[in-house]
Amino acid sequence: MEDENPQPHAHPLETVGGTGVSIRPMTIDDIPAIFHLGEVLFTARIAPNAHRTWDEYEVVGFFQTDCEFCFVAEDENKGVIGFALGTIIEKHHSWTYGYLIWLGVRADYQQSGIAQRLFRHFKNAMIDAGARIIMVDTDAENHASLRFFRKMGFDHSRQHVYLTLNVDDDRRKHEERRKERIIRYTVDDHEKE
Ligand SMILES: CC(C)(COP(=O)(O)OP(=O)(O)OC[C@H]1O[C@@H](n2cnc3c(N)ncnc32)[C@H](O)[C@@H]1OP(=O)(O)O)[C@@H](O)C(=O)NCCC(=O)NCCS
Repeated sequence: MEDENPQPHAHPLETVGGTGVSIRPMTIDDIPAIFHLGEVLFTARIAPNAHRTWDEYEVVGFFQTDCEFCFVAEDENKGVIGFALGTIIEKHHSWTYGYLIWLGVRADYQQSGIAQRLFRHFKNAMIDAGARIIMVDTDAENHASLRFFRKMGFDHSRQHVYLTLNVDDDRRKHEERRKERIIRYTVDDHEKE
């Protein structure tokens, strides 16, 4: 006998990795949704790359310069639930590289194949653009991301160490010297008068 009151499953597989979610190129209307989803996903703990910051300018920038390499996953009822934003790097006399910079899937949709589908679209766009290698970087502690990229075929991972130098004291000294110079010139000017 059929269940008369079936318990709604939060996200049955066919509406997550399947037909309910489509992957399409990013449009201008996606900018706020991508930005807010990234705010939740890219915390200080999960910073995919140390040299970029997640903010609204980042998303707008990708839309302006690289929208052919940016894709969203959209649930027909819930809107944007994932995205892949990347770019292409053409080195003079060298190969063309694809660079996947931001990849994210809403937590309640994770592990159902959405990122795989996003990546497939991204990879095809990169191949069409002439890329021979696709690069990603991710935090060494981001195990989900590392496992994901390995499953997508990424290898040759290299350790990359980010170092920081605090130049705040130097900046203050520069500023003091600059002020001293201004005062000296002003006094000199007065003495000449
Ligand atoms: C990394 C991320 C994009 C993966 O998205 P997803 O839609 O859940 O990934 P998929 O369902 O397509 O997973 C494909 C494979 O990746 C691996 N994987 C994904 N999530 C994983 C997790 N939490 N733990 C371990 N492996 C994981 C698995 O090998 C999985 O294949 P399997 O299910 O057959 O084992 C998602 O976890 C995320 O948004 N994380 C936060 C942001 C982030 O770290 N982005 C990456 C750097 S920019």
